[in-house]
Amino acid sequence: MPATIGTDIVFAKQILNRGGLVGIPTETVYGLAANGLNEESVAKIFAAKNRPFFDPLILHIGNISQMVNLVDGIPTNAQKLINALWPGPLTIIFNKSELVSELVTGGLPSVGIRMPNHPLTLELLKTIDFPLAAPSANPFGYVSPTSAQHVYEQLHNEIDYILDGGPSEVGIESTIVSFLNDTPSILRLGGYSQETIESIIGPVTCSLNQHSNPQAPGQLDQHYSPHCKLSELTSEITIIPSFHGVFYSSMSKENFENIRGVKLNDNQFEILTLKNSDVEAASNLFRILRELDSKEIPHSFIEFAPRIGLGPAINDRINRAMAKR
Ligand code: TXA
Ligand code: MG
Repeated sequence: MPATIGTDIVFAKQILNRGGLVGIPTETVYGLAANGLNEESVAKIFAAKNRPFFDPLILHIGNISQMVNLVDGIPTNAQKLINALWPGPLTIIFNKSELVSELVTGGLPSVGIRMPNHPLTLELLKTIDFPLAAPSANPFGYVSPTSAQHVYEQLHNEIDYILDGGPSEVGIESTIVSFLNDTPSILRLGGYSQETIESIIGPVTCSLNQHSNPQAPGQLDQHYSPHCKLSELTSEITIIPSFHGVFYSSMSKENFENIRGVKLNDNQFEILTLKNSDVEAASNLFRILRELDSKEIPHSFIEFAPRIGLGPAINDRINRAMAKR
């Protein structure tokens, strides 16, 4: 039976209790959730996404007491981040406890934990007595979903229920910070900028570009990719009649038109932010990448974000979306 969509937390809980899969809303992107302490349920996640087993899953919790049994110690700086930024778009990598299966961690001795900031999912998490293992609810390698409809379109045959919590406000995945080494390290830029993390715990390293490093497969060169071919938008590209562009802001679109002496028609462009805001651009990015595919646009040129705030995280997703299979 294909999945239904709704807001019934009791039903979601029943499905999870009996080992099923539920699409859950979070402030970053929608997750594909199962009982994180039940290996059989966790295995279903990998099958539904066609995800390789070496790619570890994040465990989601609804309160701190749920975490204590999952990790082997909480470093002081990790505790500071937890106090300041949870619930929120932050995943922390800890040494794992015995309780956490290597199926969840892709064989690693560490585990990623996050407390998402979405009222429906927090309520759900507080009514169950296990953490939820949940990757983004998209087929492996494709763009992450930011609405219940996105999840339905691609995974309705694989899962039992989708909790509809409206569009994801942040729109890109959580920032991942690892505390396995002496200096904390950002493994994936996301909903919290590096500056935000550093304002709380001081300097961190950022190891995003070690492409061959399977530490965080979100770091694989090609990830988050629509079927539409994407190239970088520069002011030098040749404009052909079938031109399509994704502009960062309305201002940059107008600049482009002025410099190039063209007037693009409505179906030739998308704009990531009308308010020239990095936060708004992040929240629109994945929806717009998906629309390129639903509109069957074969090739589009996309503009990078200014390197402030969430700009580097947005550009990270754009770079990976451009890297072709
Ligand atoms: O915002 C998010 O984090 C979303 C929502 C649903 O919470 N989840 C998400 O999960 O993006 P996923 O599986 O698509 O990406 C999680 C990333 C993967 O790249 C994985 O490799 C990395 O987290 N990761 C998980 N556990 C890890 C570990 N122990 N060490 C290093 N990286 C880890
Ligand atoms: Mg993902």
